[in-house]
Amino acid sequence: MTVPRKVVAGNWKMNHGPEEAREFPLGLNIGDNVTAHVLLFPPALALAGLRAGLESAGLAQRVHLGVQNVHAEDSGAFTGEISAPMAAAAGARYVLVGHSERRHVFGETDGDTLQKVAAVLRSGLTPVLCVGEKLGEREADRVEEVILRQLDAVLGSDTIRSKVASGDAPFLLAYEPVWAIGTGRTATPDDASAAHQALRNHLVERLGSSVGRAVPILYGGSVKPDNAGELMEAPEVDGVLVGGASLDPDGFSRIIQAA
Ligand code: PGA
Repeated sequence: MTVPRKVVAGNWKMNHGPEEAREFPLGLNIGDNVTAHVLLFPPALALAGLRAGLESAGLAQRVHLGVQNVHAEDSGAFTGEISAPMAAAAGARYVLVGHSERRHVFGETDGDTLQKVAAVLRSGLTPVLCVGEKLGEREADRVEEVILRQLDAVLGSDTIRSKVASGDAPFLLAYEPVWAIGTGRTATPDDASAAHQALRNHLVERLGSSVGRAVPILYGGSVKPDNAGELMEAPEVDGVLVGGASLDPDGFSRIIQAA
C-alpha cells in the first residue's frame, strides 16, 4: 500500500442513499493541484451509485472507495451483514474497522476488531483502524492506555505480521476521541499531536521504523472546513477522517483543498 500524505477521508455513516451518492460528485471540486489522497465511505447500498457518479464526473481515479463495516467471515448465515470479499467485488478498497460507533453503539470488542482487520487484509483491502478514548477516560488521564490497547489488539495478528514482513504498511490508523465525534468539540492540534505521537512511537516500536513510520495516522472528530487546515499542519497528523462535514460536497472539497 502506498498512500501519499495527506489523506482526507469522509465517513457518511447512515446518510445519503444511492441517488444522493450518484449526484454527490457533481458538487466536488478537486482541482489538478490537489495532492490529497481522498477516500469516501458511503453506506454499502450507495457504493455503486457513488462509483457511477464518480465515473461520470471523471473523478474515479481521484476518489477511492471504502465501506464502513464488514463481518469477519467471508460468507454464511449472518443475516444483515456484508463481507470483505463482497465489498472488494463492489469496488471498495478500504474498510473502516473499530469506529467508535461500532465499538460503543454496537458493542464491538477489541477481539472483533482483530477478526475484522484480518478479514479485510485477507480480501486484499486496506483497513482504516479507528481508536479513541471516551471523555471519562481522558479526564482520568488514560488516553494513551486506551488507544494503545486498541492498537495492540490488532498488531499481534498473523495477517498483520506477514504484511509487515513484506515491508508494507498494513493499515491506516485514525485517532478519533469519542467526545469529539459529532459533538462540535474538536481536539486542539496539540492534543491531537500528543495522541498521534504516542501512536507513532508505539507503531515504530512494534513494527519497526520503516513500516511504523509509513502508517498514516488521521485525526477525526468534528473536523470542519475551518479547522481542517490547522489540524493537518500539526505534527504527526497525516490527514483527517470527516463525518458530518463530508456530507456536503462543497464543504468536503474545502477540506480536501486544505490538505
Ligand atoms: P464527525 O464524525 O466529523 O461528525 O465528528 C467523525 C467520525 O465519526 O469519523
